[in-house]
Amino acid sequence: MIENARQKLIFALDVETIEEAERWALRLRDRVGMFKIGKQLFTRCGPEAVKRIRDCGGEVFLDLKYHDIPNTVTKASLEAARLGVKMFNLHALGGKEMMAATAAALRDRFPAQTRPLLLAVTILTSMSAEALREVGIPAPAEEIVPRLALLARDAGLDGVVASPREIAAIRQACGPGFLIVTPGVRPAAAAADDQKRIATPAEAIRAGADFLVVGRPIAAAADPEAAAAAIVEEMAAALRKG
Ligand code: C5P
Repeated sequence: MIENARQKLIFALDVETIEEAERWALRLRDRVGMFKIGKQLFTRCGPEAVKRIRDCGGEVFLDLKYHDIPNTVTKASLEAARLGVKMFNLHALGGKEMMAATAAALRDRFPAQTRPLLLAVTILTSMSAEALREVGIPAPAEEIVPRLALLARDAGLDGVVASPREIAAIRQACGPGFLIVTPGVRPAAAAADDQKRIATPAEAIRAGADFLVVGRPIAAAADPEAAAAAIVEEMAAALRKG
């Protein structure tokens, strides 16, 4: 169960240089299941960042949130897959045609063993009801998030990225087997930082999350290895009870 839990923990590499990223990968490669590379590190260091983490023995979640016309997202996605990432994502608001074309292209070109998991971001958690209205979306996020998750599932995606408070509604709308990757996770003893809608690792697992993304509670801990191990232990306990 510990190994199963470890595989489900993703460490957010929110750092500026490849060297820093590599240091974290070497420290945590046996403690977490994956490393998330986002826009900051990728914009600065490019595909080399992915290569170097993989060379350290780490699997990569490439968090670039593609949002463009179907042809462009499909082509960018095939490049992401060629980098050997384990998972990456796009915006569901790019529409079903974009999502379906991307999912189909990945299935065409990559056998199941090497095909990365394709996830959708539904509504950014930074969007308030007011911000949604400003861009012409009158419905509340609670209504749109499960709807976009279902659209992603129907388009052939593997899952979504969702905040802890959205997990239950998505699980209900999309059923089992559709992956839910959850940031905003804070062990009870950790600082909330700028995260507002937080859950503990156990709560997120119990609500139905398949993967947890954790950054600062590990990176800022006095003993990051121990912090990662404690999170994995808490996840494993929740998995045993579930
Ligand atoms: O340090 P912390 O645990 O808050 O890091 C969480 C990671 O997940 C960061 O890389 C952050 O950008 C990302 N994320 C998030 N909330 C979302 C989507 C992504 O915190 N709604």
